[in-house]
Amino acid sequence: MINITNTVSTKMTKIHLTKYSKIFTILVIGSLLTLGLDAANSGEVVNTSRPGAHTVKTVCTQCHRIEGPPMPRRTKQAPDLIWAGNKYQPAWLEAWLQNPTQRLYPLGYDYNPKRKKSHQTLPAHEAKAVTHYLATLKDERVQEGIMKPGTLEQLKKGAQLYREHACSNCHWTPAKNRRGYTGSKSSTSLLKMGTRLQADWVYRFNLNPNDFVPDSGAYIPKPLLLKENIYAITSYMMTFQ
Ligand code: HEC
Ligand code: HEC
Repeated sequence: MINITNTVSTKMTKIHLTKYSKIFTILVIGSLLTLGLDAANSGEVVNTSRPGAHTVKTVCTQCHRIEGPPMPRRTKQAPDLIWAGNKYQPAWLEAWLQNPTQRLYPLGYDYNPKRKKSHQTLPAHEAKAVTHYLATLKDERVQEGIMKPGTLEQLKKGAQLYREHACSNCHWTPAKNRRGYTGSKSSTSLLKMGTRLQADWVYRFNLNPNDFVPDSGAYIPKPLLLKENIYAITSYMMTFQ
């Protein structure tokens, strides 16, 4: 009798346990999720002084570097964001992060178009926060305020130098033809460069590309261009829309 009751009650307990353990599991998962959300939220609260830092440090750095010495392109999965605060125009960056369809490296950053996937897209508020944070990543080698819009003379000189040095041999360049551009796509597209990049960064890059992408095939004229000619070519490039 005792045995039978025991067995029955054990069975009952088992049934109850299974039922309860399901409820228990749901509760545990539920509270873990809440905890997780709380953690994410509290992360945002902690970071309000530097909004966007959390996303950049947890998501973007999976592919991009935000600190360290300049390194050759072949060692990287994605362009460096180390000097993002000097390189990109914030309005362009914020819009591109929400709709990253403009092709910047037509052959893919690693020159393999087949491996090229669409870029991470951010919702508007996140794009804004990330842009704010990236704007704090400055490079002291870039002198701010050095570039002014080119004079007619400088623009003419710049256009001539750009042609003579065949910069479009590696960079898509705007042109008044049916396609709207000319040149080869082996490196970065310079279409709409005037709204994408900051002139002071471009000027500093043109002074010596190896300071940013060493040993990566960027073109360095020999003999080196005079500073005033680099200024002229940069002011001309900033007219690319
Ligand atoms: C899975 C890897 C990966 C992740 C994650 C990623 N990116 Fe990128 N990103 C790339 C690659 C690759 C390119 C080059 C795009 C191309 O080939 O057109 C790129 C290009 C860019 C560019 C243009 C760079 C330039 O100088 O031309 C910016 C800006 C950028 N990413 C920002 C971000 C931000 C901000 C995040 C985080 C929200 C992020 N990326 C997350 C791989 C990634
Ligand atoms: C032999 C091919 C080649 C030629 C010709 C060339 N470039 Fe480049 N350029 C590159 C490479 C490679 C990079 C580096 C791309 C990277 O990995 O970030 C680059 C990058 C750049 C960038 C930075 C773009 C960005 O969004 O990061 C600028 C600005 C630039 N070049 C200007 C010029 C100018 C000005 C000329 C003509 C005087 C020129 N290039 C000629 C290969 C070339």
